[in-house]
Amino acid sequence: MKSNNFPIGIFDSGIGGTSIWNEITELLPHENSIYLSDSKHAPYGEKSSQQIINLSIKNTDFLINKNCKIIVVACNTATTNAINFLRANYSIPFIGIEPAIKPAALKTKTNKIGILATKGTLNSQLFEKTSKTINKQITIVEAIGKDLVELIEEGKIDSIEIKKLLHLYLNPMLKKGVDCLVLGCTHYPYLIPQIREIVGNKIQIIDSGQAVAKQTNAILEKYQLLNMDHKKGTHQFYINKNKRVLEKLILKEKKFIKIDERDF
Ligand code: DGL
Repeated sequence: MKSNNFPIGIFDSGIGGTSIWNEITELLPHENSIYLSDSKHAPYGEKSSQQIINLSIKNTDFLINKNCKIIVVACNTATTNAINFLRANYSIPFIGIEPAIKPAALKTKTNKIGILATKGTLNSQLFEKTSKTINKQITIVEAIGKDLVELIEEGKIDSIEIKKLLHLYLNPMLKKGVDCLVLGCTHYPYLIPQIREIVGNKIQIIDSGQAVAKQTNAILEKYQLLNMDHKKGTHQFYINKNKRVLEKLILKEKKFIKIDERDF
């Protein structure tokens, strides 16, 4: 098999990165993929930077052993804490995801943007560096989405608990007059209907999923790694906890999917 047919490797602390997997497989239907959901160690957002780097190394080694041709870090927390380390220590190309505060800064009319993300992302050096590049007139209103990842991992997307937490995190942003809300965690796109109920239609919700898919395409092109097969890609998932929740989330998709629950 040529390396072009090798899979795209994707990892996240859990099932949230499937929001990115959806975008990638939509844009690149002929690509094969391997998705690693490290649900047993979620949430990464409450861990130290060094712990997040160690888990990212484990995930990267797993995907490289499965012959992945590139790796998408489908987790803002792992990207903002570990991608510089990964790029410096592995030769395989990496694509990361960072909160889309730059696009939001270009769109805001009130000069106030909200960001909902994990503690690990908001406290990272990379996020601090990116925030400093934003026009000084723009206020960034941050909220840590504490406990949201855990509840999504438990399959409680439509729960009262989630709604209460979203009110708690988003109402202060609304009071401060934000007109753009950046979703800085790949789990959160699954909460868009609940978020819409709270923020209404006047606020733009911005996530980076499509941008990551486009970047994946661009990097594959650059390294001449695009899969030229005309058949639909196959998709293997590895998860170390709660396979059922993942199944519910992705089996709505009509794709060739295998899910393997095992310890790693
Ligand atoms: N999906 C991860 C992210 O984008 C969740 C992080 C976590 O496990 O706390 O940040």
